[in-house]
Amino acid sequence: MTRIRFWGFAAVVLISGGGLWQVQSQPAKPKFSTRMEPVAETKLLMEGIADPNARGLAQLLADKPRDAEAWVFARGQALLLAELGNLLLLRPPKTRAAEDAWMTYAAELRGHATTLARAAAAKDYLAARGALAELANTCNRCHQTFRVAIRINPFAEE
Ligand code: HEC
Repeated sequence: MTRIRFWGFAAVVLISGGGLWQVQSQPAKPKFSTRMEPVAETKLLMEGIADPNARGLAQLLADKPRDAEAWVFARGQALLLAELGNLLLLRPPKTRAAEDAWMTYAAELRGHATTLARAAAAKDYLAARGALAELANTCNRCHQTFRVAIRINPFAEE
């Protein structure tokens, strides 16, 4: 009786032992999903990223920046807006027509903001002002399309 029990125990260890080995030989699964997925509300991105960086740029570019630091700052703010374009591309509305418009504006935002960042890196004031105007148009067109009552005018800041 004791002998039978002993063998039964040994067999269980063998099977589960094999199972353990198989699991460990597979590549380790990442703990979190590595796919891009939206987390924050769009409103939060607008308040936390779009608005402060657009205002900052309007202020910095109200007159031609005198020191290199201001241009570095402008470049950084423009790149954050460009990256916001990527974040917006992750969270289009559900319907097809709305999605097309959304993706167009989000990509436009990234494009104009990248142009602005390059102009800031080159300390090209006219090009930077031009890109900021284009950028603001994109903010406004997206807001108009999605009936958001916010109008951006970077050249009318106090
Ligand atoms: C792809 C479309 C899109 C683009 C581009 C866009 N926005 Fe928005 N924005 C929205 C939507 C949608 C809302 C409304 C969010 C909500 O209330 O849920 C919004 C809301 C806002 C708000 C109001 C937030 C609040 O407190 O209710 C501000 C400010 C804002 N956007 C600034 C900007 C600026 C500045 C830019 C350009 C640099 C910009 N947005 C570009 C879609 C866009």
